Amino acid sequence: MRTIRVKSSKGNYKICVGQGLLSQAGVLAASIFSPGTKLMIVSQKNLAPYLKTIASSFSKKGFQVFFHKLPDGEIAKSEAELFRLSCDLLAKGFERRDGIVAVGGGVVGDLAGFAASIYLRGIRYVNIATTLLAQVDSAIGGKTAIDLKEGKNLMGAFWPPALVISDARVLGSLPQRELCASLGEVVKYGVIRDPALFNLLEKNCKRILRKDLGAIEKVVLACAKIKAGVVSRDEFETKGERAILNYGHTFAHGIEGALGYKGLVHGEAVAIGMMMAVQLAADLGLCSPELPWRQMKLLLSMKLPVSIKKFNLRTATILKAMMTDKKKNKGTLCFVLPRRIGHVTVEKDISLESIRKILRLAGAK
Ligand SMILES: NC(=O)c1ccc[n+]([C@@H]2O[C@H](COP(=O)([O-])OP(=O)(O)OC[C@H]3O[C@@H](n4cnc5c(N)ncnc54)[C@H](O)[C@@H]3O)[C@@H](O)[C@H]2O)c1
Ligand SMILES: [Zn+2]
Repeated sequence: MRTIRVKSSKGNYKICVGQGLLSQAGVLAASIFSPGTKLMIVSQKNLAPYLKTIASSFSKKGFQVFFHKLPDGEIAKSEAELFRLSCDLLAKGFERRDGIVAVGGGVVGDLAGFAASIYLRGIRYVNIATTLLAQVDSAIGGKTAIDLKEGKNLMGAFWPPALVISDARVLGSLPQRELCASLGEVVKYGVIRDPALFNLLEKNCKRILRKDLGAIEKVVLACAKIKAGVVSRDEFETKGERAILNYGHTFAHGIEGALGYKGLVHGEAVAIGMMMAVQLAADLGLCSPELPWRQMKLLLSMKLPVSIKKFNLRTATILKAMMTDKKKNKGTLCFVLPRRIGHVTVEKDISLESIRKILRLAGAK
């Protein structure tokens, strides 16, 4: 097992990365909670095969274990589910010293983390991350949220976990499309910060797609280290550094919005968004013309989409969705653009004409 430390104003925490960690969840949690503490395992039906191992490891350490099941999908990040979980905690007599254990991907983590941030004005939670996306991204950094009908992640809090456990073995049951989509975010880390990770992905793509645990563990470790470093230095996204994690996301959010969040999963939209961003960088002369090709080759080898041709989307529709995205900065769109593999800059003054050109190049009408 490898441990990464994350700094936070609300308490530093550890990310444990390894294989077969579920049976050690109790031992790991014992460094945070005292025996007798109540722990609410919040999860979904797809994670049912893992819950017995986790629960018995908690029981062995003297914790009282309870279960709360969320529905599958983004629908779980709702006001209704937030209140249902809070009422369940109350009904089971959870006090301030007790805790929540999120077992799942970004959806479970975001909802359970937000509930933890507001229940009795804040209780601690452990994030057992079970998707590649959660292990490399959403479980780290303390962003929690629910969706409103007006848009995604519009209500939430910065509430860091007390512990993150990332067990590569649970990814074995992850659907292949989810694995590939998460690889979009993995490529993102290589481009923004880590040429060695980018090379590793190019060389080991087949092993990763076959879910070779050794290769996956290496990838999780490299990405988690990058995210941990960035959020430790810029916890609340106020210093500029955390913004680089949005590489590909300004375009991706526009595409997702224009599609009404249907047809593409997030990591797939990020892959297309990164292609648009690198093409924009090349067009503006900020990076070499070879860079878009190199990134495209890697994304395609990961079975990720690189264009929006098949969706018949209009440029104006995507642009409108990009402008309403919450990450817009005083009315200007921000773009994280690569200069070379491992180095990006945030650019604000990009002309609408340049953006339209990129959207058309990627297949918008
Ligand atoms: N908080 C953050 O910083 C942050 C960052 C990125 C994304 N997010 C959020 O994360 C969410 C997406 O998360 P996700 O991609 O992990 O999707 P998800 O949580 O919906 O999980 C995808 C599917 O896989 C299933 N699943 C999870 N682990 C499994 C496993 N080991 N075996 C079999 N099935 C498994 C889930 O039940 C679900 O059906 C979005 O809501 C997004 O807004 C949050
Ligand atoms: Zn993302």
